[in-house]
Amino acid sequence: MTIHKSKVAVAGCGLVGSSIAFSLLVQGLCDELLLLDSNREKALGEAMDLKDCIGYLGRNTRVRVGNYEDCGDADVVLIAAGPPPRPGQTRLDTLDASVAVARAIVEPIRKSGFDGIFLIVSNPVDVISHYVLRLSGFPKTRVIGSGTALDSSRLQNLLGGILRVDPRSVHALAMGEHGDSQMIPWSCVTVSGKPIAGLLAGGGELQGLAEKTARRGFEILNRKGATCYGIAAAATGILKAVLQDENRILPVSTLLEGEYGENNVFCGVPAILNRTGVADVLELGLTAEELSLFRASAAVIRDTSEKLFA
Ligand code: 2OP
Repeated sequence: MTIHKSKVAVAGCGLVGSSIAFSLLVQGLCDELLLLDSNREKALGEAMDLKDCIGYLGRNTRVRVGNYEDCGDADVVLIAAGPPPRPGQTRLDTLDASVAVARAIVEPIRKSGFDGIFLIVSNPVDVISHYVLRLSGFPKTRVIGSGTALDSSRLQNLLGGILRVDPRSVHALAMGEHGDSQMIPWSCVTVSGKPIAGLLAGGGELQGLAEKTARRGFEILNRKGATCYGIAAAATGILKAVLQDENRILPVSTLLEGEYGENNVFCGVPAILNRTGVADVLELGLTAEELSLFRASAAVIRDTSEKLFA
């Protein structure tokens, strides 16, 4: 009898990659955690620090530093390499650096025999996820971008605070670009089944909340120079849905092929996640105005992707 041991490789041990590794370890979601970084000493330091947690955790996860060849039997390779946007930049401005990283690492990881799921968090995440799909030649189900998973949690938090309910009871999501052009499908936002329209003041307030959600990452970046815990929690939620075959619906970035009238673009949409990756995309019944906002956001991503692929 062979027991399957789950293995996650984290490529990029900067603040984001190491926060995700910590979150994975604390939640005990895999048997083995492999850390990769171009700075091996940095990866070793992170691995040592993470190993020091084990005595206080519920699972003896094996944490080690490795090379691309060690990814062959990983279930998921998470790509977290690349710099955060600097003050005044947008996520799209970090494209070149993230492209260089993806170009350097996807091919050797693929050559290791890796046949699992790529989860991308490097920004601009929608474009980089599409790029990884192309570089890897994987089926689209097995390349997932963290997309608007984090923005959706930010929105739930804002709404929970205003309505004085637990954010987890707020069913709300952001869609489109994980970036400035993202939109909120307000007609689909409910609090335990109650439409949000009847609970908030309406137009102006909703617009303000959408802007606040989109700006939130920069509110943090401007204060601490990076964001890490929010994305770590969101990525861990996606990883858990995959590793535990949950069929959980989360807003992630995936290749659209006809959904919402869009084609050949990675975009944040609600999707069913399980052991196969993105098992299905949910097509919400958006209003005409929401659909046009969503498509405008998809156009921003497509413009950047097409320039990259030209
Ligand atoms: C975030 O939204 C910067 O994309 C990163 O936290």
